[in-house]
Amino acid sequence: MTSHDPAAVIVLAAGEGTRMKSATPKVLHRIGGRTLLGHALHAARQAAPRHLAVVVRHERDRVAAHVEELDADALVADQDEVKGTGRACECGLEALPEDLEGTVLVTMGDVPLLTGSTLRELTERHERSGAAVTVITAELPDARSYGRVVRDDAGDVVAIMEFKDALAHREAGDEWSHVVDVREINSGIYAFDAALLRSALARVGTDNAQGEKYLTDVVAIARDEGRRVSAHLVEDLWQTEGVNDRVQLAHLGRELNRRTVEHWMREGVTVVDPATTWIDADVTIGRDTVLRPGVQLLGATTVGSEAVVGPDTTLTDTVVGDRASVVRTQAELAVVGEGASVGPFSYLRPGTELGADGKIGGFVETKNARIGAGAKVPHLTYCGDATIGEGANIGAGTIFANYDGVAKHRTTVGRHSFVGSDSVLIAPVDIADGAYVAAGSAIEGRVGPGQIAVARGRQRNVDGWVARRRAGTATARAAEDALAREQGDGDVPPPEDSPHTRPDGTDDPTPPRRAES
Ligand code: UD1
Ligand code: CA
Repeated sequence: MTSHDPAAVIVLAAGEGTRMKSATPKVLHRIGGRTLLGHALHAARQAAPRHLAVVVRHERDRVAAHVEELDADALVADQDEVKGTGRACECGLEALPEDLEGTVLVTMGDVPLLTGSTLRELTERHERSGAAVTVITAELPDARSYGRVVRDDAGDVVAIMEFKDALAHREAGDEWSHVVDVREINSGIYAFDAALLRSALARVGTDNAQGEKYLTDVVAIARDEGRRVSAHLVEDLWQTEGVNDRVQLAHLGRELNRRTVEHWMREGVTVVDPATTWIDADVTIGRDTVLRPGVQLLGATTVGSEAVVGPDTTLTDTVVGDRASVVRTQAELAVVGEGASVGPFSYLRPGTELGADGKIGGFVETKNARIGAGAKVPHLTYCGDATIGEGANIGAGTIFANYDGVAKHRTTVGRHSFVGSDSVLIAPVDIADGAYVAAGSAIEGRVGPGQIAVARGRQRNVDGWVARRRAGTATARAAEDALAREQGDGDVPPPEDSPHTRPDGTDDPTPPRRAES
């Protein structure tokens, strides 16, 4: 708390946003991982108000539910049939304590780049100046349809005139006909003295080009009552820009991202290609981490320090530990431990937890999988509903068959156990610590400590099959040549059993050498 904390912030979010042409209310569209309203609430909270009210009407229930989800302490105020920003503000005031005194800030739900520090500056300036109203203004090269700020010869603000009304004055050729050419615009963000706002709104009518109750009319009324109105001109035009259509949504989204990426570079993150790097507003990244081109860090993702992410990686609500490496990966609600390695071409689905120094390699999909420290799932594997102990190794092409068509079941692989390549573990399966599964096995029961499980057909070689069934082919000729060479040596008979299989049926990593001719 400082001496310049406002009594309240009222966020106006009742408008329809027809130009979005969307089934989703405008303020629920997103940039930087937050809704437009989410950005507005975030900035409002940073101003440290005693009360925060959001005025809703269009798609009331959806917007109100979103407010509740983001900020349980915010008040939701309903706007009635009377249209306009003035009425919206009145409805906001009605939700606040009747005897509220001090400064009330008014912001809009569709101005996402406005920052909390600008609101704090506004409050402080407003309170120091003693003005009844302070309006944030900006000078635009093209003032478009914004409300125009009308100043007197001394430079004091005397009124804000809506574009349509300024146009009408131009047509009438009266004393206000120059106003349409004014380039200083009303951002729609204000600080008001609470008592003045309440009494002035009661006097605002709807006699204007749009037949609405304009909040901007409070300015002229304050002047009428002999009160001062001051302007706080901001240089950073982005902070006053609202979203009306999807072109502006993308435009502001890109600028927000540019700001976020720049922030993290200033905090010590190397971003190889800022133009193709997208970082949501709620992401955090440690020092000396490198983001390679084509990285999207979304939602509540956090990346530790000295990590490497990318290229071409999308992480949503994912935690990446210090010194980890995540390459060409898609991950959601996953945890990657310190020093661990993921990718390339890995797909980590919700509930994946990879321990420190572990590995998830190429073409591996994981889901609800706790993979222990130093454990490796290096190649071509589906690993779902599994617990894998530290130091275990899952061979290439292993499938954790977790779904029997009705229910999901878990598989456990113990510490330092070894699953041979191309095995299928038909859950529920429990492989103890220090156990082996022979390559190519289909495992459906328990494997005890120190055991090897072999569950596959034995190899059987049939002599002369190629000569009989594939006579005349290149394969048959190659066989003939090879047999002639072997028989020429005289001492190497054709193999009767697999040279790769030991008597116990397990893999022999070093096949017996055959004599070359
Ligand atoms: C308003 C200002 C204009 C300013 C511009 C800045 C008025 C009369 N005009 O115009 O001077 O330059 O903003 O963007 O205030 N809203 C409600 N209830 C309503 C109408 C609007 O809550 O009945 C909310 C909208 O959701 C939106 C905000 O108020 O967040 C602004 O409404 P909008 O209709 O866009 O105002 P403008 O006509 O653009
Ligand atoms: Ca607008």
